[in-house]
Amino acid sequence: MDSLGGTYTLGGDRTVPRLGFGAMRLTGQPGNFGPYRDPAAGARLLREAYELGFRFFDTARTYGPGHNEELIARALHPYPQDLLIATKIGVEKPAPGVVHPDGRPAAIRRGIDESLTRLRRDRLDLVYLHQPDPAVPIEDSVGALAELQQGGLIAHIGVSNVSNDQLARARSITRITAVQNRYNLTSRGDDELLDGLAAAGVAYVPHGPLGAHPAGAAAPLAQHPALTAIADRHQATAGQLALAWLLHRAPNIVPVPGTTTHTHLRDNAAATLITLAPADLRALDRLVLPAERFATLVGQFTGASGVTVPDESGRGRFGSRALKVNGAIFAMLSRDRLVVKLPRDRVDVLITGGAGRPFDAGKGRPMKEWLTIAADDDQTWQTLAEEAMHYVATQ
Ligand SMILES: NC(=O)c1ccc[n+]([C@@H]2O[C@H](COP(=O)([O-])OP(=O)(O)OC[C@H]3O[C@@H](n4cnc5c(N)ncnc54)[C@H](OP(=O)(O)O)[C@@H]3O)[C@@H](O)[C@H]2O)c1
Repeated sequence: MDSLGGTYTLGGDRTVPRLGFGAMRLTGQPGNFGPYRDPAAGARLLREAYELGFRFFDTARTYGPGHNEELIARALHPYPQDLLIATKIGVEKPAPGVVHPDGRPAAIRRGIDESLTRLRRDRLDLVYLHQPDPAVPIEDSVGALAELQQGGLIAHIGVSNVSNDQLARARSITRITAVQNRYNLTSRGDDELLDGLAAAGVAYVPHGPLGAHPAGAAAPLAQHPALTAIADRHQATAGQLALAWLLHRAPNIVPVPGTTTHTHLRDNAAATLITLAPADLRALDRLVLPAERFATLVGQFTGASGVTVPDESGRGRFGSRALKVNGAIFAMLSRDRLVVKLPRDRVDVLITGGAGRPFDAGKGRPMKEWLTIAADDDQTWQTLAEEAMHYVATQ
């Protein structure tokens, strides 16, 4: 099999190339509602994806709703043996922008019947519970999928948009072979979870691999200036670098970037040819310090639990990279500058790897105090956070 980025064997018996195709965007816009504007063109794109080596296609009941599954069948049926189509169940979309979970077992059973019809299959390869329904215990929703699996209608079961706790509850009911959560270079809340899943032999399918909002067209990571600089060295684009990073991040990651264009489809396939050196990976980690990871570090060194970043998109003076912990504010200014502002305006401290007296743009004056750490290229943020905590502790 031609493989895009090597292969992953799902659930021990379905081997697919590691780069998948997310079909959600091949629906009416805005809101992924209604049929795709040009179904014949959408079918051509799906067929080209197959020709390029894509074998793992990601869809859902709610995309369209229904139209996206129908388009996949129109493009690719009768299905080649090596094709794996993953769909999702348990979310309803009655109108554009109106989405609500329905994880009741009866709704799941009805939905599976409908997906089987639309996809023209006797058995679905992989079905995720799209989103836990707060009104229905996840055990019941996943239990319904397990019964359908026992009845031969589903080969593999996955869960999507789950917390660690919800995943553990789902796994207590049945074997979960794939988890689909939002994850990318700047959304790293699942770092620990994904490493655990890699060890347990469970696939991790990151949605939004280019940082797109599900309801918006922009792909922020494809335009990220810091990524562009590194990408240039690889004669690649920022979007390709973001995908290559995911493929390097863990062996169980199977990204499903979504596109409507032949150019981006080919670019995404070509991203699997990029080899990132350890120095590239370290540089990427530092260039785009994920807010969640920053929170983890600060939590680790302050001993505070439950440190979270409230808004991924960023708000306030320091955007999403600012955290208040026990009265002290930690803010990341740039890849080598961490500000620690102590309570009651005692002192501002800037821990910096850069030279020169740092300037506090917010207050329009130089920082009152600062520390300079002899940072070189291998300086890690962990060390910076350690230094910050040491300084705070000795004040
Ligand atoms: N489980 C869930 O709740 C959930 C939520 C969201 C998505 N998903 C799944 O994950 C898949 C991917 O998510 P997504 O589409 O939201 O986000 P994404 O893959 O991060 O980004 C898609 C956007 O990036 C653009 N793009 C694609 N390749 C590009 C490239 N090489 N360079 C520049 N721009 C590029 C696309 O526009 P063009 O059309 O112009 O290429 C599209 O607007 C979906 O198709 C869906 O299957 C699941």
